[in-house]
Amino acid sequence: MATIVLGITGGIAAYKTPDLVRLLVKEGHTVHVVMTKGAEQFVTPLTLQTLSKNPVHTELFDLTQEQTIGHIQLADMADQVLVAPATANVMAKVAHGICDDLLSTVICATRAKVTFAPAMNVHMWENKATQRNVGMLKELGYQIIPPASGDLACGYTGEGRLPELTDIVSVIQ
Ligand SMILES: Cc1cc2nc3c(=O)[nH]c(=O)nc-3n(C[C@H](O)[C@H](O)[C@H](O)COP(=O)(O)O)c2cc1C
Repeated sequence: MATIVLGITGGIAAYKTPDLVRLLVKEGHTVHVVMTKGAEQFVTPLTLQTLSKNPVHTELFDLTQEQTIGHIQLADMADQVLVAPATANVMAKVAHGICDDLLSTVICATRAKVTFAPAMNVHMWENKATQRNVGMLKELGYQIIPPASGDLACGYTGEGRLPELTDIVSVIQ
């Protein structure tokens, strides 16, 4: 049973993450959620805190958390970091070593395995910069769970769906 830091970013598929937390907890994992500002537009920290039974982290510059250097604690406690859904933005930042919020800083600071489950509009996914960034992440040793094909929330059809939550959990196991 692992300690999983679950990074949630600002994609519409973030609405599925309460169920993802439930599945991970059911498998016996300890889950600590880190949310970007974008993610908070789609799902509430209170929901994730209730389901994970752990405090949810949203701020890098948090006076209480950073009394104990919270971002390094999160980076060190993780057996695995899972970013789901992963936006084009977070992958671009990590591919380029940018650490400008709590999640990207934790990813930069951790020695744990980091897995991204990207989800986005098919044109965003096929965008050359996104594809280059995904390639860079793989070269840097990050794991990518490819998005599934099908109907997308934006009304398009194609690659870009968050894979089934059970598939994400199997990859993490
Ligand atoms: C309604 C809405 C849905 C969005 N869905 C996605 C998405 O599925 N994938 C994605 O990469 N970006 C999506 N975005 C854009 C991101 O929210 C935006 O790039 C943001 O800067 C991401 O920030 P974050 O990576 O720090 O969470 C969406 C934006 C809006 C307004």
